[in-house]
Amino acid sequence: MHKSITLEYEYFTDIKCLPLELQKLVEVARNNTLQAYAPYSHFRVGAAILLDNGVIINGNNQENASYPQGMCAERVAMFQASALYPEQAMLAIAICGNPENFSLNHPLSPCGGCRQVMLEYEKKQRHNMKVILCTMKDELIVFENASMLLPFNFSKDDLQTK
Ligand code: THU
Repeated sequence: MHKSITLEYEYFTDIKCLPLELQKLVEVARNNTLQAYAPYSHFRVGAAILLDNGVIINGNNQENASYPQGMCAERVAMFQASALYPEQAMLAIAICGNPENFSLNHPLSPCGGCRQVMLEYEKKQRHNMKVILCTMKDELIVFENASMLLPFNFSKDDLQTK
């Protein structure tokens, strides 16, 4: 039996296609790339999360001389959001790549580890977390929820700890 999965998303080249609050979130994510600590890869990533109470949480990648100890921008932002506002749903996360030595010609896609962490919080909060991938200038990709970025996932449901 053949089965398939379809992934639906929105693609824009004009930020004005987004509602104002998400336009702002994208601008914050772009700005957050500038404070990334990426002295080894020189690949700066910024993230910004919009919480249900309107607060925006910042994140950017944090590297380390012991490479595996570094952390992606998305997880820095999500862990901060959960630590500071554990009861506030994360309505949307904007993610932007801004390498020091070249221009990304496509929106940055979150790594598998970050997708797993998005899935965790999305399930916990029982509310969609929009995922907005962007470049520093025009292209934007919007996913309605984070779970769709990780089909056939492993989650708390499998542990039966509901
Ligand atoms: N990075 C992120 O911050 N987010 C991603 O989704 C992909 C990769 C960071 C990790 C590392 O500091 C640098 O980009 C190069 O991999």
